[in-house]
Amino acid sequence: MKYNFDEIVDRRHTHSVKWNPSFIKAMFGDKELLPLWVADMDFKCPQPIIDAAIETAKSGIYGYSERTEPYYNAVINWYKKRQNWTIEKDSILFSPGVVPALYYAIQTFCRPGDKVVIQNPVYYPFLSAIVDNGCHPVYNQLQLKEGKYVMDFEDLENKVKDPKVKLLLLCSPHNPVGRVWTEEELKKLGNICIENNVLIVSDEIHSDLIYKGYKHVPFASISDSFAQNSIMCTAPSKTFNIAGLQVSNIIVPNKIIRQELASTLEKTTNKFPNIFGLVACTAAYEKGEEWLEQLLDYLEDNLNFIDKFLKEKMPEVKLIRPEATYLAWLDFNAVESDEKKLENIIQKKAKVALDEGYIFGKGGEGFERINFACPRSILKEALERIERAIHN
Ligand SMILES: Cc1ncc(COP(=O)(O)O)c(C=O)c1O
Repeated sequence: MKYNFDEIVDRRHTHSVKWNPSFIKAMFGDKELLPLWVADMDFKCPQPIIDAAIETAKSGIYGYSERTEPYYNAVINWYKKRQNWTIEKDSILFSPGVVPALYYAIQTFCRPGDKVVIQNPVYYPFLSAIVDNGCHPVYNQLQLKEGKYVMDFEDLENKVKDPKVKLLLLCSPHNPVGRVWTEEELKKLGNICIENNVLIVSDEIHSDLIYKGYKHVPFASISDSFAQNSIMCTAPSKTFNIAGLQVSNIIVPNKIIRQELASTLEKTTNKFPNIFGLVACTAAYEKGEEWLEQLLDYLEDNLNFIDKFLKEKMPEVKLIRPEATYLAWLDFNAVESDEKKLENIIQKKAKVALDEGYIFGKGGEGFERINFACPRSILKEALERIERAIHN
């Protein structure tokens, strides 16, 4: 089946956080902004997911639901096939989302006052999960070298020596800088953490959205010692545009760590997953691959479109080309490095809603994150608005 990613689906006046005018007004102060911010896609999800949801809807009974054999098999087979990662059924915990899982991990393995490492600029709920649980962030800031972000291992090694550091939240691939960490980078990071008794929570929610020429390596697949020292956060939500169905799979190979995390999950969250999330996840991993391949081609073309547009019409704005994710990190420092003035240009003059770079922490100032998982016509309109705002 050929999917049409150029189709405009009107999401205004639905429950969409991204598009609903009242939500945009509350977030940005102006309901007219063209939204390319929060990370969901403006594409309909694969037909098998729609069919599975309709089938379930038609049953007319939406009682308490549990994960069954087809669900587990779909998850296990997907990761084996796509990422060559072997997952044991017993190691798969359920969470209604990856962000909640980050909170549960911190609640389980840290006490208030403990420290957690993050690699900023990074997806902002990483910081919230730390401070909301009474812990302190330790910043191992990413370094931008010749247009590419790299980890600062020396800094990491120094910082994790502090016995108060209990966890590291890894974003792999990284949002917003778009890096697909190589096996070598992950090995260095993992070894430093293991030597210093720091548990790694690897958020791999974007790991299916990898561009040609790059390969995602699941952290836990590297070695048994890495598997035993990790909590792997995965989900079909970004890949298949089903974030509203609240389903994620938290894979914890280490039995003791798993039991402790499972105990927090049981106390904190709903034990029985949403039925629509379960059937969608199963259908996605069983039958969504063809759609995903077409999606990746479309996204890569969108990325090329941004690249060409910037080079031709806004050369002062630099694209940090993502190796994964549908989020591009744009360097506006040559236009305006003052974060509030830049925000003003994007929101008030261009009338576009992006994620401001500074919300991702230090290192994000002067940058904007654009979500390019939308029909090309919308992307074009957004870039043209920004170009006019900068040049007029
Ligand atoms: C790195 C990362 N983790 C987690 C999430 C959200 O996960 P969930 O909706 O499952 O809580 C996002 C959404 O953008 C993300 O980029």
